[in-house]
Amino acid sequence: MLFEIITIFPEFFRDVFEYGIIRRARLAGLVEIRAHDLRRWTTDKHHMVDDRPFGGGDGMVLKPEPVFAAVEELTGATSRERYSARTRVILLSPQGKVLTQPVAESFAADADHLVLICGRYEGVDERVADALITDEVSIGDYVLSGGEPAAIVLTDAVVRLIPGALGSETSALHESFSSGLLDCPHYTRPPDFRGMRVPDVLLGGNHAEIARWRHEAALEKTKRNRPDLLKK
Ligand code: 6GU
Repeated sequence: MLFEIITIFPEFFRDVFEYGIIRRARLAGLVEIRAHDLRRWTTDKHHMVDDRPFGGGDGMVLKPEPVFAAVEELTGATSRERYSARTRVILLSPQGKVLTQPVAESFAADADHLVLICGRYEGVDERVADALITDEVSIGDYVLSGGEPAAIVLTDAVVRLIPGALGSETSALHESFSSGLLDCPHYTRPPDFRGMRVPDVLLGGNHAEIARWRHEAALEKTKRNRPDLLKK
């Protein structure tokens, strides 16, 4: 799967994909991740990527021309209708649909080429959203100064769903959200740490009892931290 990130800060991504599961998936050839400097597609001598908003107001807006030129080159298509069936062109912006596990799962299952456009907080010319993108994605209800951290989050969430990316093929199935609940608590040695004891049930070998305890503990944690998940 090919990830291509269009950004005004390509250096932002230099080391971030060099660790853990993402690094392993890259070295195994399961994914390739490229960060492209949006300025590469500017044609003026100042390499201008943004401009003042029509109608007035604060901040600068990303200009359409370099973004269109970038997406045209990276997709080989001159309009959204002509992208390959497994290509997605995703704008990261706070106006997008929220990234959830099912959204990440659909990218992992249905796409092999993701073009990620990092928006700026101030905005991206709306003609990008109108004509170019297949999906507009936000990572949550808070404000970032740009889409770069969101592109990293989305890439991580998708890469680890690609078959072979995790050590054990099944480990993604038992995690938070796949079941609709948060994950249960985990413990390792020592069984007594500064007087804080690991629940006895986990120290015994009764696997049915352990499974029941884990489900109850996951429910309890979900009730406490994410009651919204239980209403679904
Ligand atoms: Cl994708 N971009 C920005 N600028 N802020 C965000 C976001 C994205 N997702 C949540 N907040």
